[in-house]
Amino acid sequence: MSKVLFVSSEAYPLIKTGGLGDVAGSLPLALSALGEETHLLLPAYPQVKQQLANTKQLASSRYYGLEVSLLETHLPESKVPVWLVDCPAAYDRPGGPYLDNNGQPWHDNALRFALFCKVAVDIALAKLDLQWQPDVVHCNDWQTGLIPALLHPYKERPATLFTIHNLAYQGLFDHQTFLDLALPSALWHPDYLEFYGQLSFIKGGLVFADRINAVSPTYAREILQAEFGNGIDGLLRHRQDRLSGILNGIDQTVWNPATDPHLAANYDSTTLARKGENKTALQQQLGLPVNEKVPLIGMVSRLVEQKGLDIILAGMAEMVKRPLQLVILGSGDVHYELQLIEWASRHPDKLHVVIGYNEALSHQIEAGSDLFLMPSTFEPCGLNQLYSLRYATLPIVRNVGGLADSVTDTNTITLASKSANGFVITEHSTQAMLTTIKRALRHYENSKVWRQLQRTAMAADFSWQRSAAQYIALYQQALRDRDQHTP
Ligand code: ADP
Ligand code: GLC
Repeated sequence: MSKVLFVSSEAYPLIKTGGLGDVAGSLPLALSALGEETHLLLPAYPQVKQQLANTKQLASSRYYGLEVSLLETHLPESKVPVWLVDCPAAYDRPGGPYLDNNGQPWHDNALRFALFCKVAVDIALAKLDLQWQPDVVHCNDWQTGLIPALLHPYKERPATLFTIHNLAYQGLFDHQTFLDLALPSALWHPDYLEFYGQLSFIKGGLVFADRINAVSPTYAREILQAEFGNGIDGLLRHRQDRLSGILNGIDQTVWNPATDPHLAANYDSTTLARKGENKTALQQQLGLPVNEKVPLIGMVSRLVEQKGLDIILAGMAEMVKRPLQLVILGSGDVHYELQLIEWASRHPDKLHVVIGYNEALSHQIEAGSDLFLMPSTFEPCGLNQLYSLRYATLPIVRNVGGLADSVTDTNTITLASKSANGFVITEHSTQAMLTTIKRALRHYENSKVWRQLQRTAMAADFSWQRSAAQYIALYQQALRDRDQHTP
């Protein structure tokens, strides 16, 4: 069993903006349950500190001239230790972890996450006198990318794993920032951190980690091609022998329709009829016509290009003509928010849009909808389709990334084999999305078939058990790779 330092810029329920938060709030628990000695490292944002009463100071030091303390606490209702990098000058401000209240990236994000990485490196090299040194440092996304790069020169270092949750976010900054961060000058090279004249945080992970993985097998293959490679596919092809894919799991306690405290009525696969009560409650709550028969399509998403907003908006005129209701919860790019609000104001009986972040409503939409829409252009894993399957809400998804690895399209063959659990859009176009929605609505008319699809969806096992075991095997592989390649 290994000692694992799990480094993430967000973790549910302490702080979350998307799926990374869900993963970092649940995978460490699954790893611990399997015997790995896991510590989670997180910046001490104000939202995090507010939720935690008892923190203990373990160490203090200065980074970039700023006072930094390391605080110890636990993930709520668990024994997994959380170490918080407390640097008020970097993290204690109103706003999100990455963006200010106007939706703009913090001007000092490079410094905020370089500092975070430096603390992780000092823990990894046992420089903070904590009486604990990890065997493996598990890094997640660009905010942690400098860790493998900074650890690489050390002979006695832990192995490193870098997990790609989303290659589209790379942490790019100008050359002056590289100089300001006082990073080793040798790293300014196209083979290392330089990316077309810019500093790339993510390259630190992709170039230097002993092992790299993406959050689904299909995405791990897709990012080797230019179409999904975000300009960095050449490097990934070069490191292909170190790259694999592991599908995310879900927290089955937080996302369980049988016990979910946010629902009007709890249900499981033997009491599926009760799911309808959640639909009625949702329609009432949002002021939509209450009608059990009309198919209700839900969507909970960051409102960004990745999530297929362009084809949804282009198809809206058609959708509002159909006998259906659409509920969208999300926040993100202002131009998408405004267009959605405009459509909703013109068709209040068809479309309800809630702009903002709302945990309870996200659960209520999962439970109250018949179908869940996710026409992403790319999707490294996607968690909402997994939640939807568990809530017997059939997902309508693009055949990309983790969506392709979790949703099986409904057709004669998959119906006969009882493997169908949703509806797959085979190309990124409004027409293809509308055709698939139409097909889903046809199946909705047949209540016997629909029940079978729902039962298959609910029976799928996306718990962390299997994926956490795959991560443990990957840690072992990373340790072997480190030993083979360290001079
Ligand atoms: P991504 O990480 O790309 O945003 P995922 O499907 O992996 O996509 O995860 C998104 C997570 O964030 C899910 O848990 C989803 O329920 C949640 N989420 C996204 N937008 C909102 C919102 N507006 N309100 C509440 N939860 C949201
Ligand atoms: C990213 C991806 C999403 C994935 C999540 C957690 O935000 O966009 O597909 O599920 O990370 O790994």
